[in-house]
Amino acid sequence: MELLSGSDADILRAAAALKEGALVVFPTETVYGLGADAFNPDALAKVFAVKERPLFDPLIIHIAGLDALDRIVEFSLLGQEGRKRLTLLAASLWPGPLTLVLPKKKEVPGLATGGLATAALRFPDHDLAQKLIRASTNAVAAPSANLFGRLSPTRVEHVLDQLGDRVDYIIDGGRLRVGLESTVLDLTSPCPRILRPGGTSREDIEKTIGPVEGPESQAKRPAPAGASREGGEGGFPLAHQGLLSPGQLTSHYAPRTTLLLYSPAEMENLAYNGRAAYLFFDALSRDRWLSARYASGGAPANVRALCETGDTRRAAANLFALLHELDSGGYECIHAETAPPLGLGPAINDRLSRAAAET
Ligand code: TXA
Ligand code: MG
Repeated sequence: MELLSGSDADILRAAAALKEGALVVFPTETVYGLGADAFNPDALAKVFAVKERPLFDPLIIHIAGLDALDRIVEFSLLGQEGRKRLTLLAASLWPGPLTLVLPKKKEVPGLATGGLATAALRFPDHDLAQKLIRASTNAVAAPSANLFGRLSPTRVEHVLDQLGDRVDYIIDGGRLRVGLESTVLDLTSPCPRILRPGGTSREDIEKTIGPVEGPESQAKRPAPAGASREGGEGGFPLAHQGLLSPGQLTSHYAPRTTLLLYSPAEMENLAYNGRAAYLFFDALSRDRWLSARYASGGAPANVRALCETGDTRRAAANLFALLHELDSGGYECIHAETAPPLGLGPAINDRLSRAAAET
């Protein structure tokens, strides 16, 4: 493995390697991605092997310009409404932390899409990612650059820890702006549906295309035609047929330390234990709790807040870095407070509840 900077020469080297089938970890505005050419099945197979990820879990294809869509999206299966929504979302929220699920062309390898008839597409809002994607194939499949089921990396050290010796190149992009994965929105159903809450808020999507369904509707509905598996690809477990967003397994994004999740009222009632870690939503609730329980001044290292001022964007940006840090602190457990259900709050709560779920 070679660690690269964001210099033009380094990006061109990494892009050339991607075209040859290498695996390149690159920064995006959300989390680091483990990139491979989306049209190279051998490279895609390596992604699954390196991450120890099940083959039915589809990848997001990263593009750096709308010209890439023609090669990937089967527009004839999208319908007029779907095309209109795609145009509006691309104009106002791309580049950005929004992934759109669209009907795929048959040329897109089944390995990139977990055998689904749809492909997930994202145009990341990060200079280095865009340069890399442009200079390679303009279709880079990339899951988050972590081992399957573990916390996503928001710093290059997180990547080195988990995948350091398993990939060809890692591009260091420093800290990432959003810090939480993209929102995944399915545009193939009559009413668009959020499959995974993430870095783009539901409010911002609804401002652009009107009402969408939330992830809570997912479990209750039968799979639409667009979510069916393609015929003839085989190898995908029956249990996952029709699962709309197969990556959304309950236990995911898990730290190794046990995480317990509480409402603000429950958190306020917890007793202090020096061997446990406490993760509050904001400094206000942290300080209120501390002043009643922990005598000496200042917050100790095991009592943290996701943000100072209650801003869910800031909180989302700090979430994975704080979980990584607390996870390596050797604590008995991590007590975490839920975020308010506004802005990126639902995405934070989604990741916290998955981190809290039993494997
Ligand atoms: O921010 C992000 O989205 C990051 C960066 C690297 O772009 N990527 C990321 O990828 O989080 P990954 O593989 O960790 O998560 C992709 C999610 C999974 O939940 C997967 O099931 C879902 O997207 N997905 C991908 N293709 C899909 C499809 N065709 N239909 C439904 N869900 C899909
Ligand atoms: Mg992931």
